Amino acid sequence: MTVRGPVPRRARSSRAPRRRAGRTPVPPTLDRVPLVAARGLAKTFGTGRGARRVLDGAALDVEPGEMVALLGRSGSGKSTLLNLIGGIDRPEAGTVEVAGRRIDRLSERELTRFRATEVGFVFQFFHLIPELTGEENVLLPARLAGGVAPTRARDLLDGLGLDGAAQRLPHTMSGGEQQRVAIARALVNEPRLLLADEPTGNLDPESGAVVLQALRAVASGERAVLLATHDGEAAALADRIVYVEDGRLRT
Ligand SMILES: Nc1ncnc2c1ncn2[C@@H]1O[C@H](COP(=O)(O)OP(=O)(O)O)[C@@H](O)[C@H]1O
Ligand SMILES: [Mg+2]
Repeated sequence: MTVRGPVPRRARSSRAPRRRAGRTPVPPTLDRVPLVAARGLAKTFGTGRGARRVLDGAALDVEPGEMVALLGRSGSGKSTLLNLIGGIDRPEAGTVEVAGRRIDRLSERELTRFRATEVGFVFQFFHLIPELTGEENVLLPARLAGGVAPTRARDLLDGLGLDGAAQRLPHTMSGGEQQRVAIARALVNEPRLLLADEPTGNLDPESGAVVLQALRAVASGERAVLLATHDGEAAALADRIVYVEDGRLRT
């Protein structure tokens, strides 16, 4: 447990986040720590004349229980931001805290552990292993992190309405089913933070709506969801919308 100084509480009155039906409010506590606190993030791709500063002073807080939607035109830096927060990539400047830990300071070994246990990722194209059943796909990250009972995978799949998918291979599933298996896989190690990069980008509206409801349900209690999206439905379900623009974030 990291010992920290008092965390300034943000004034809720002036720009209170929209609260939607289905959100489980977390009782306020005096020592509430944001689940994500990113400050002054900078990231440049390329060098010399080809260099492009994609993020330039980006700051973001995500509180436990929130679902936050990142919006911005294609190429604005949404995926880059998710990668920095999820420890897939490192910022060239700025700080990222997840659950009170400075992940921009972790060694490669610590980062690998962080990615495996503290965050879950959901991507546009599911990235399930085609040779493994739904249940085996869900269990894979748990095996890599030290093992978990197979019943946990089945419980997660059941909870997402996928009781039938446990023994099936991904190619026999619809896109919406594959994405829900991917959500179960992202949750198997009980991360507090779920990062989703255009999770409905490859789904028909109906499947997309089911996936969004699943993500909405994840964002409660101590857990939060941060998703990059073009999907108006996703934005409508979120507690807050954050726009990525000119390297910065605005609400
Ligand atoms: N690994 C990379 N190497 C070079 N350029 C990259 C890399 N990743 C992203 N970019 C560039 O950074 C910009 C932002 O990309 P990205 O974060 O993927 O945007 P978004 O997800 O909002 O569409 C784009 O111009 C993209 O081409
Ligand atoms: Mg992207």
